[in-house]
Amino acid sequence: MAVLGAGTMGHGITQLYAQAGFDVYLYDINGEILQDALNKISTNLDLLFQENAITLAEKEKTLQYIFTTTNLEEAVSGSKFITEAVSENLNVKFDLFKQLEEIVDKDAIIASNTSTFSIKQLSEGVQKKDRLIITHFFNPAHLVPLVEVVKSEEIAQEIIEHTVAILKGIGKKPVVLKKGIPGLIANRLQAALVREAFYLLDNGIADAKDIDLAVSAGPGFRWAFIGPLETADFGGLDIWKSVVENLAPLLSKEEKVPPFVKEKVDNGQFGTKTGNGLFTYQGNDEVQNKIRERDIHFIRLLNIKNEEI
Ligand SMILES: NC(=O)c1ccc[n+]([C@@H]2O[C@H](COP(=O)([O-])OP(=O)(O)OC[C@H]3O[C@@H](n4cnc5c(N)ncnc54)[C@H](O)[C@@H]3O)[C@@H](O)[C@H]2O)c1
Repeated sequence: MAVLGAGTMGHGITQLYAQAGFDVYLYDINGEILQDALNKISTNLDLLFQENAITLAEKEKTLQYIFTTTNLEEAVSGSKFITEAVSENLNVKFDLFKQLEEIVDKDAIIASNTSTFSIKQLSEGVQKKDRLIITHFFNPAHLVPLVEVVKSEEIAQEIIEHTVAILKGIGKKPVVLKKGIPGLIANRLQAALVREAFYLLDNGIADAKDIDLAVSAGPGFRWAFIGPLETADFGGLDIWKSVVENLAPLLSKEEKVPPFVKEKVDNGQFGTKTGNGLFTYQGNDEVQNKIRERDIHFIRLLNIKNEEI
């Protein structure tokens, strides 16, 4: 296994493969980021241990399966499954693909974690279009089960099945799209909801905390187990027919980012990464505590979701 790019997504994906017992070569052009990635993985594993999801021995074993390198050839030689998680820049990805195609095994699969480029766009940067696939993980990759899989017209069914089997083997819930669409499934649904949340906040309907609570204590509580379509069946399609008929014309159809969000971005208020966003955070300690709290909840939810009933 090889993971290329050790940033937000790359380190989590590396952790997953190592936890499942694969040797993983983690490559980045920046050696400091590699060290940082190892520290983050170690912290993630500590939290899993604290939550009784793994033993200390499993933590140590996982770390032993990870090899970091700034040498691409060392990272990918002999690897049959390569996950690309470098910066979301087509030129950077194309340049990497070009280097890869000169050194990878003939039957190696290249799985891109791109969020915004279509498989068609990515394919333009490779010779062997039949070995390229998208495996789109969610942040934090080591905890969120979903991986969206996007195939190209050129790819063989057996490569899709092999990719799905690998993802299931590391405990993920892959969803293979029948055809490509910008934003795939989950980000389209999220974007629709975030647009409405921005609208509600902008129009003073409730403050940010209460808008989030209305989701996490309401629909979001159900969505961990039943999606919007099953929810519609449970509620009754007769009811949901009226809900959509009555509400759809009144929902936000805004195509632009609302000025209050743009203003925050222009002022460098990006959220947790700058200490200020839609909420205010008292320094890095509060940010780290919030991330830790989030991850503890996710680990506990994951345990519940993995329980058979
Ligand atoms: N952040 C998210 O929530 C998220 C979610 C799903 C998918 N993605 C996708 O995952 C990919 C990575 O995103 P990220 O958020 O981890 O980005 P990031 O900026 O945190 O990390 C990218 C890493 O790639 C490295 N890099 C840049 N050029 C490189 C090269 N030529 N070779 C090797 N390494 C190189 C950088 O040094 C950096 O460490 C992107 O395609 C992004 O769209 C991100």
